[in-house]
This record gives sequence, structure tokens and C-alpha cells, in this order.
Amino acid sequence: MKDIITLSIESSCDETAVAVLKNGREVLANVVSTQIELHKKFGGVVPEVASRKHIENIDAVYQEALDTAGIKPEEIDHIAVTYGPGLVGALLVGLSYAKALAFTLGVPLVGVNHMQGHINANYIQHKDLKPPFITLVVSGGHTHLVEVKDYQNYEILGRTRDDASGEAFDKISRAMGLGYPGGPIIDKLAKQGNKHAIEFPRAFLDDSYDFSFSGLKSAVLNYLNAQKMKKQEIVVEDVAASFQEAVVEVLTTKAVHAAEEKGYKTIALSGGVAANSALRDKITKMAGEKGIEIKFPSIELCTDNAAMIGCAGYHNFINGKIDDMSLNAVPNLKI
Ligand code: KG4
Ligand code: ZN
Repeated sequence: MKDIITLSIESSCDETAVAVLKNGREVLANVVSTQIELHKKFGGVVPEVASRKHIENIDAVYQEALDTAGIKPEEIDHIAVTYGPGLVGALLVGLSYAKALAFTLGVPLVGVNHMQGHINANYIQHKDLKPPFITLVVSGGHTHLVEVKDYQNYEILGRTRDDASGEAFDKISRAMGLGYPGGPIIDKLAKQGNKHAIEFPRAFLDDSYDFSFSGLKSAVLNYLNAQKMKKQEIVVEDVAASFQEAVVEVLTTKAVHAAEEKGYKTIALSGGVAANSALRDKITKMAGEKGIEIKFPSIELCTDNAAMIGCAGYHNFINGKIDDMSLNAVPNLKI
């Protein structure tokens, strides 16, 4: 059978990314141009700045992806592109570029849901992974517990009712003046801290698979304010470790519970927060005790990239899910 070459584009937030994949799981190129340095001084992503930077970057990122993969544009079989969820202006840059490419090359355009992309990162990392399994999609914008019934069939078991887990990391980091993005900074600091130092609340929400992190965020902010008022020392390592432990404990408990209750033997982590070392360690241990296997992508495949979009786009393509030029950006697209 002829190989299928996917060229994929991701521009939903602050990474301009283009990848080339062969047959959905073999990555020939995965180029990511991050804007993190640009947004750092604002303490978070500024949508307008992100869109403008995507426009400046995308051509060079596309060229680099082709060069790295060693392919010519004529060899591309279809274009996969993120059309949501994300920042509308940022999404539109990648989407317009994808449409222009699909049109000039005369190949199909395939829209991809960014969250499905995160889940698909696991197929690239683990060549033998097949549905069904449970996945925890934890990123800067989302926290979802999902049953992956098949490559194209997802059922959401629970979601955050307020802040996303990554958002909580970013906000706490900002409150402590540690910088952006908060996740990797807190992850690193927490290694030197005592996770039992401060007892922050865990919102288990009874039997629901939903999540809530805003109470925890307020508790950490209140703690920081109280320490300042009392002129008492804030041990940032301990705050980082105690906050992280509260997030990780809730995520881990719910995911393992869902796998047990639904009878799954595999949990796959996906999204930027899946890069968190404490989450990886705790869930691997807790799930292992119940005979459940934990899979997660490499750090580069956890955070935003186009290879994961290519893999999800390939599955759409081989299942006949092809779009036309009327495809529009959908900022609040659901899984
Ligand atoms: O998936 P992603 O790159 O972009 C979105 O789709 O949102 O996720 C970015 C989020 C940020 O909130 C960042 O702080 C968080 O993932 N993150 C982490 C870690 N690395 C990135 N959170 C906790 N621990 C990490 N090591
Ligand atoms: Zn993402």
C-alpha cells in the first residue's frame, strides 16, 4: 500500500508548529517555534501578539519542516490543521495557511480538534497503543477525563468546572512572581520542597468525575497574602510542592478510579500538564498497584506540537473525515 504523507499545522495558542508524518505514526519532521519568550513579560499569552507572531513565523516553520523531512510539497497527500479550540486569531493564521496549501497542491484539507491531537500524541509515542483506554487531557486550557472508545469515538466522563489544571499552575506561579509558563517552574521548584508542608484543599466533588481548581487557587493565594500580612517567610519550594501535590492527588485519584470503574487496563496522559514529573510518578505508582498501565508522551509531545495534530488528522483522513474551504476556526470546539 502507498505511504500516506500528512503535513500538519498547529497555531492555536503560542506555538507555531508544522510537522510531517508518514502513515500517521512515523514523525519525519516536528518543528515547533515557541513564542514563550515573547509572552513572558506579560505573564501570559497576549492573543493579538500571538496572531501577529504566527504570521511572521509560519512560512519559515513550514519550510524547515519540509527540509527536515526531506520531502517536496508534491509528495504531501493531505493537510491537517487545528481549527479549535484555541485563540481565534491564532487559529485563523494556521487555518488560512493550510487552506492555501491544500488549494495550491490540490490535496484534501482535514480539520483537527486540538484536544484530540493531544490524545493522539500517545499513538506516536507508543506504536502499539490501541483504543480503548482512559485518558486524562490536562493542559493550559482544559482538564478532561475521557474514555477513548475508538480512534474517532470519545466520551467525556468529567471536566473542570472552573480553572484548567495548567491554568492553576500558571496563576500560582504568577502570584509568586516566578514567571510563565508556571507548570515547568513549579515542577522544578517542588522537587526541593516539602509537599506536606501546607495542607491545601482537594476538591473531590463527591462521586463526580468533574474537577475544580479555583478553590485550591484561592487557598494558595490566601496563604500567600496571610504570610505577607504576618510578615512571615514564604518558602516557595514548599508552597510549590504542596500546591502541586493537591492538583496531582485529585487528578490521579479520579483517573485511576475511572479506569477501575469502567474496567480499563490503560490510562494515557496527554496535554502540557502531562509533562509534570509528580503527576507521572504518582499516577504510575497508584495505577500500578491496581494493575493499570500508565502511558504518556515525551515532554515535546505533551506540550503543543503539530505531530500530534498530524496523527489525529491522519485518523480523520483514513476515515473519510475531510473538510472543504468553508472550514472555520471554532475557539470553543468540544472534544
Ligand atoms: O498543552 P499545552 O502546551 O497548551 C495548551 O493546549 O494549553 O499546555 C500548556 C500548559 C501550561 O499551563 C503549562 O504551565 C503546563 O501546560 N505545563 C506543565 C508542565 N509543563 C507544562 N504543568 C505542570 N508541570 C509541567 N512540567
Ligand atoms: Zn494544547
